[in-house]
Order: sequence, then C-alpha cells, then structure tokens
Amino acid sequence: MEQFIEALKTLVLLVDLQSSFTVRYSSSIAALARDIAAEMFESRFDFFVMYIAGFIHDLGKLKTPVEILHKPGKLTRSERYVMNLHASNTFKFLSKYSNLDEFAAIASLHHERLDGSGYPWGLKGNELGMRARILQVADVFTALTENRPYRKGMSNEDVLRIIEGEVDKGRLDGDVYRVLKEMVKNGYRISKDEVVFAEFFGDMEECEAVRKVLKRVS
Ligand SMILES: [Fe+2]
Repeated sequence: MEQFIEALKTLVLLVDLQSSFTVRYSSSIAALARDIAAEMFESRFDFFVMYIAGFIHDLGKLKTPVEILHKPGKLTRSERYVMNLHASNTFKFLSKYSNLDEFAAIASLHHERLDGSGYPWGLKGNELGMRARILQVADVFTALTENRPYRKGMSNEDVLRIIEGEVDKGRLDGDVYRVLKEMVKNGYRISKDEVVFAEFFGDMEECEAVRKVLKRVS
C-alpha cells in the first residue's frame, strides 16, 4: 500500500505538469468504470480495482509530447504512432511496482478492441477480461461526452449510439454497453470530484493520505 500511495504521488506530480483536462478526465473515467463495475460485479474489491485502473489509465500520456497531446487538428501518421504509445507506457510506468501489476495490466488495455484492431498489443476476444472491457467502454463514453480544448462534448445519447455501432462491429463489449445504456436511461451522471477511497481503506491514516493526494488532482 505504501508503494501504491507513492505511485499516486508520482502520478500527481507528473499530472500537475500536464493540462487540467487530463486530470478531470481521469477522475471521470475512474468514477464511471467503478460505477459500471458496481452494476456488474459483486465484490467491492472489483469496484476499487476499476476505480484505480480508471484513474491511472492514461498515465503513459505524461511521456507524450504536449504539442501532440493538444494538437487541435488531425494527427499525422507518425504523431499518431507516438500518441498511441501512451497505452504501453502506462503499463511500463506502473508494472515496476509489483503491487500495481493488476491495475497496470487493466489500465493499459483501454484502447484494445475485441476484434483485435486496438492497441498497444492487438489482443482480442477472450484475451480481454471483463475489467478491461469495462474500461474500454468507459474510456469512449467519457472521452466523447467531455468538452476538450479543441471540441465540444457530445450528448450521452449520441455517444451511446457510437458505442452501439462499435458493439455491432464486434469491437466493444455488448453487455457493458447495455449496462451503461440502462444507467444513462436512469439518469446517471458522472460525479467528477467524488472520492470514495474511505470505504475501501480500513486504515484511516492511509485513507487520509490518499484523499490529500486526490484532492490536489481533482
Ligand atoms: Fe488513452
């Protein structure tokens, strides 16, 4: 756990150097991934894993040059190559902490697709577990609904249609999509600054340390 908190501190330090929307985005996908998991899994540990994996999924972007990260227009082929390295960089950053192996593996799979067309490793089908599938859907939904410096966010309904199209093409998981669709139908809103660590940590001192770190990034 000490390693975990240290890793989060590193994350905060590095994220502080980046644009603020990356931080807001990471909090949003973390909350959404956790809330989808809460609909699909029984174990609170799964909610926790999804929350952390969501929070750190784009950590590898800290290695992406800012001019590529914030380029308003279409990326060139070589820029896209550099941009796409962020997923495997997330794994490289995190996998050196043995306690974070599980989070690192899930987090780094958020751009993989079930038909093998994703990156960084082109995994497909059964190679992608339900946790990774949840993160993939949560990533698309969060990214497209949020405003970015270079474009306005789309409506929930429009984004759900896009995700449905990806499900039809065999790229995103249909069960996760249906759970998300139901959540949105019932008025679900991503709570961007909600921090729910308290319920996962028995040790309040550790919990407070994590809260302090998260307060700085939210
Ligand atoms: Fe990403």
